[in-house]
Amino acid sequence: MTQDELKQAVAQAAIQYVVEGEIIGVGTGSTANFFIDELAKIKHKIKGAVASSEATAARLRGHGIDVFDLNDVTSMSVYVDGADEITPQGAMIKGGGAALTREKIVASVASRFVCIADGSKLVDLLGKFPLPVEVIPMAQAVVARKLNALGGEARLRLKDGVAVLTDNGNVIIDVHGLQIANPVALEDEINNIVGVVTVGLFAKQGANICLLGTASGVKTLQ
Ligand code: 5RP
Repeated sequence: MTQDELKQAVAQAAIQYVVEGEIIGVGTGSTANFFIDELAKIKHKIKGAVASSEATAARLRGHGIDVFDLNDVTSMSVYVDGADEITPQGAMIKGGGAALTREKIVASVASRFVCIADGSKLVDLLGKFPLPVEVIPMAQAVVARKLNALGGEARLRLKDGVAVLTDNGNVIIDVHGLQIANPVALEDEINNIVGVVTVGLFAKQGANICLLGTASGVKTLQ
């Protein structure tokens, strides 16, 4: 199976966690896009969705799914999103698509985080994937120095030579070369650096369920 076929398989499997009549939290990225396409097939059964990025909102609307402002939503039974890395315990690195802050905010309102990922994302130790950190632009240099002091190599994320900006107007610093033995502690430590908006470690509130696409089928980790 190709990686896209594995992503599609987990996206289909995630539909079983969608609660009829409710608002669903929806993540960002290629795997989340497959999920949106599956969600569209049952859109008449849901009330709508909360999007974790402008790109996700546009795709949901393109399918005719109502997109709600999170400020108008008090609870959500499920949030479905991909990950860049996930451990068997459900701790994740996210933010490869620069949507980490809104993803963490929407996920915080949901009762359950269902992670959908192809098998290549499962790791025992987080950190091979560079850790994304969303940063207020004027704090970029000072935050980079502090991230370097943690033992990584902080690099501003660029596209075509220009700093990538998030939906919130901030920059992303990717920290290379970390071996994250204690993701909960590192999440706290980086979030406490002045100028950091959000670190892409989802460990304090990780995934409750992970649907992992493998050659032998979709495996459920919980
Ligand atoms: C976006 C994310 C994505 O969930 C993560 O990058 C995985 O993306 P993909 O499904 O394309 O592999 O965190 O900010």
